Amino acid sequence: MSGHGTPIPMTSRPCGPLKGEANVPGDKSISHRSLILGALSVGETHITGLLEGEDVLDTAKAMRAFGADVIEHGGGEWTVHGVGVGGFAEPENVIDCGNSGTGVRLIMGCMATTGISATFTGDASLNKRPMARVTDPIALFGAQSVGRSGGRLPMTIVGAADPVPVRYEVPMPSAQVKSAVLLAGLNAPGKTVVIEKEATRDHTERMLQGFGAELTVEETDEGRVITLTGQPELKAQKIVVPRDPSSAAFPVCAAIITPGSDVLVPNIGLNPTRAGLFTTLREMGADLTYENEREEGGEPVADLRAKFSPDLKGIEVDPARAASMIDEYPVLSVVASFAQGDTVMKGVKELRVKESDRIDAMAKGLRLNGVQVEEGDDWWIVKGLGHGNVPGGGTCASELDHRIAMSFMVMGMAAQKPVSVDDGSPIATSFPIFEGLMADLGAQLVRDNH
Ligand code: S3P
Repeated sequence: MSGHGTPIPMTSRPCGPLKGEANVPGDKSISHRSLILGALSVGETHITGLLEGEDVLDTAKAMRAFGADVIEHGGGEWTVHGVGVGGFAEPENVIDCGNSGTGVRLIMGCMATTGISATFTGDASLNKRPMARVTDPIALFGAQSVGRSGGRLPMTIVGAADPVPVRYEVPMPSAQVKSAVLLAGLNAPGKTVVIEKEATRDHTERMLQGFGAELTVEETDEGRVITLTGQPELKAQKIVVPRDPSSAAFPVCAAIITPGSDVLVPNIGLNPTRAGLFTTLREMGADLTYENEREEGGEPVADLRAKFSPDLKGIEVDPARAASMIDEYPVLSVVASFAQGDTVMKGVKELRVKESDRIDAMAKGLRLNGVQVEEGDDWWIVKGLGHGNVPGGGTCASELDHRIAMSFMVMGMAAQKPVSVDDGSPIATSFPIFEGLMADLGAQLVRDNH
């Protein structure tokens, strides 16, 4: 598990053109949900293309601990024999969700309306992150929780034996919180209503409908109003997990800043709640095209072609797009360093409570590599130096955050001097094949101890 093992210092050296095809792994959000909804269904759910990263493997272990039969068949193929809505058994031991906020928050939601207790923990990063955003709404269903000060893990949740349905307006843009409330609502009688002012990734809604739940979504003046009818029988499904646009972001951004590059990243889901980075990159003048646009499993999909783009310009990123690219700001800030002028990113307070405080972690690392950054509570500005002018040469702290580590590895590909991170081990949480995949394209990544 990341953060529990030996750190892996890594360096990325300036490299020649990146060329070829980047087959990135399955979507992390959809992978977690496939295992969890499979565990809450009746029958055998068959999953292909599951992301076999540490975060998702921790969720698989957790689903076994709650009584589901989760079997790995190799090559991303998994089956889950579920226990049905409300059928979770009490785990015999503490549930360790590793580095994964999605895992722990969604699972807390699932068990909050069953008459069992469970204790959750995680690594040093997860145990710092706020959980009141989930324990507040699940208390409305009747669940109780006791954790460390500030609502931190480790934490025990005592599920509500007689849950009541709730109406809850999510106070921050968070798909994890929205999903936790919906999953809790599954085992409450009657209708649970969740309102979000800003649309966040909608995989839970789409997948619950796919598994047979009665769920409606209305766009109103209040925001997106999601209504779920409780206590459905979820039916096992066949799921083909699409590839992760958040992982695609790394080879795409690397190609855009590295001279001579031309990289194809096939089969990427372009669900509008996830694709904000690609729109932003195009606005900055990136040579990024969608090829072979199509629909798969009800989702827009395309092959992305990213080419070296020497004339990037800084822009003000539309804050209305923040939720649709929230995980991509770290790597965007690297691209912004290679653009001419300022890139202004506003309305991004949520970045401060991710696997790390991502504004702080990136600002510190960018400065170490010769790039100026200004920051406030919910905004930051990267002062781009233009192509060929980014010094590099810094060793950055990855702070147990996979996306911070990968972002600085991308920076090293096109900076004047190599860029290092103190620990690349967190990359395995979401993108275990990152080093090999980038090396095949032509990147020069080395593990410093080897
Ligand atoms: C996720 C939601 C987002 C995102 C995370 C995955 C999900 O977090 O940052 O990587 O799968 O629901 P928030 O819910 O905190 O916005």
